[in-house]
Amino acid sequence: MNNVLLMSVAFAALTQAASAQTPAAAPAPTPEQVAARNDSLRADRLIHVNRLLEQIKGKEDLPAEEVFQDIRTLKGVSARMLLGIMSRGYSNALGVSCSHCHVTSDFSSEDKVAKQVARDMVAMSAVINDSLLKNIRNIRSENPGVSCSTCHSGQTRPGFGPRAQPQPVPPPPPPPPPTG
Ligand code: HEC
Ligand code: HEC
Repeated sequence: MNNVLLMSVAFAALTQAASAQTPAAAPAPTPEQVAARNDSLRADRLIHVNRLLEQIKGKEDLPAEEVFQDIRTLKGVSARMLLGIMSRGYSNALGVSCSHCHVTSDFSSEDKVAKQVARDMVAMSAVINDSLLKNIRNIRSENPGVSCSTCHSGQTRPGFGPRAQPQPVPPPPPPPPPTG
């Protein structure tokens, strides 16, 4: 075994040991990968929305709570509007498709915890908008408010915390020493 080979075997062992402790971060996706992912999410949402619109044909403009099984926070909006909020609002804000919060064979199911988290987020946003922001003096907007995308901006886990933050890309390994 020559020196270079020995060195690189040793280096590989070292980096393997290091990555056993801290899992190697995935490289940041390219803009093309981001666009492709968004396209496929949009296509998937459209399939679900169209299938549901077909199922509720003729009842699209009735209040959502009369059309669907278990509406607690979105009472009063039309069934069609509810689907718009689901797709262009919640899903888009979090960068997901329907299955992140729903068992898609039964949208009224509560089996995915994210669904109840989303309801609690609606309540949290209402407190921020209706109480907290209103009590801040000298704010510039007359009617300031946050929406899901203010915080989420295409991510499921915004904010602080090691898992919520994008991990830095590790530096490339050093070049092998020159042979001689
Ligand atoms: C971030 C979580 C989240 C995402 C993503 C999401 N939903 Fe929802 N969905 C909810 C919540 C929460 C409710 C309950 C609303 C309420 O209680 O007023 C709900 C309710 C529904 C209902 C009513 C079900 C019933 O019978 O009670 C339908 C239909 C629905 N969503 C369709 C969709 C579709 C289609 C998508 C994808 C385009 C989607 N949802 C994406 C959270 C989500
Ligand atoms: C003030 C900022 C803020 C707003 C506004 C906000 N969220 Fe969140 N959301 C968070 C934070 C922070 C978390 C927790 C992230 C974590 O677990 O690290 C979170 C988590 C979630 C999760 C859990 C996701 C997962 O996969 O673990 C869902 C679902 C969610 N939010 C839905 C919503 C929806 C729907 C709205 C709009 C009605 C909304 N959020 C508005 C800050 C916000």
